[in-house]
Amino acid sequence: SSKITSESLQKYIDEISGLPKGNGWSPSSDLYLYKGFWFYPHFLPGAMYARDHFQAQPNDIFLCSPMKTGSTWLKSLSFLIATRSSKFDDSTGPLRTMVPHDCIPFLEFGEYYSTPTGPKTPLFASHLPYTCLPKSIIDSGCKIVYLCRDPKDTYVSLWHYFRNALASMKPGQEDMFVSIEEGFEYFCNGVSSQGPYWDHVLGYWKASLERPQKILFLKYEDMKMETEACVKKLAEFFGCPFSIEEERDGIVQEIIKFCSFESLSNLKVNKTGKQMRGDQSMENSLYFRKGKVGDWRNYLSAEMGERLDNIMEEKLSGSGLTF
Ligand code: A3P
Repeated sequence: SSKITSESLQKYIDEISGLPKGNGWSPSSDLYLYKGFWFYPHFLPGAMYARDHFQAQPNDIFLCSPMKTGSTWLKSLSFLIATRSSKFDDSTGPLRTMVPHDCIPFLEFGEYYSTPTGPKTPLFASHLPYTCLPKSIIDSGCKIVYLCRDPKDTYVSLWHYFRNALASMKPGQEDMFVSIEEGFEYFCNGVSSQGPYWDHVLGYWKASLERPQKILFLKYEDMKMETEACVKKLAEFFGCPFSIEEERDGIVQEIIKFCSFESLSNLKVNKTGKQMRGDQSMENSLYFRKGKVGDWRNYLSAEMGERLDNIMEEKLSGSGLTF
């Protein structure tokens, strides 16, 4: 569905081949350092094409997040908030039959060139760091929601995701994937998809301080603890706050319930559906693992946790942001 021509694709492949390389956690791919962040190469042609061609409209809204911080959940909630009608009916909506990622396209995967099948929304998603977003998004004053998560849980989720994706797409190769200890070393050194993690978070954090009306900064842990407050905040931020009638009719609760981990992960499309990734198919169930806060304790030692906390504290010191 992408409109990247083979000519410009070749230009981007050439550009990528000139970038510094880093360990990609498995023999199947390296990471490439682009504008100070590490990326798997399949992210980059779309990001570069968007850099060169994406024209944001002032009303576009971007849902930005590093991988594994709750993007799927944020997409589902945002989609329902933005497309709800006065009579909310969760039995027929696109989220019943489409994985949330197909309801809101990723800027950097080129899908935004195709005609959307579901209801039209002003929503886009991106894993790109703030400084890698196409210039027109900033120039047009678009609203941005940023979601991040405790780095320890993010790391554990990331490690499982890539390992399971490898097992799903290239069975057997997961044995060559880094151990959870080795991957942790890379993560702590900033060598992870869209890493350094702290720089990703800091970029949006600083921007949100400079332009608080345009950038809503959220944490996964807050979304878990205060889901209702976050959902209302999102609706207000999108410019479509819940009316008194909607609140009275329980629409907020219905949206929250529909998007809960239990509900979403048990939908047939998310349980048994598959998505094509290039010429390989990947199970949608990989987007749903546990959905818990603090699961890192089951995989990392207390010392490892403390070490990553210390790194974050040092990197974020003076910013006013803590985890
Ligand atoms: P865990 O691996 O810790 O379970 P992303 O959507 O950015 O890829 O992030 C994935 C993480 O969000 C996974 O975390 C996944 O289980 C969790 N998740 C997915 N859907 C969720 C939901 N509806 N509510 C809460 N967490 C969810």
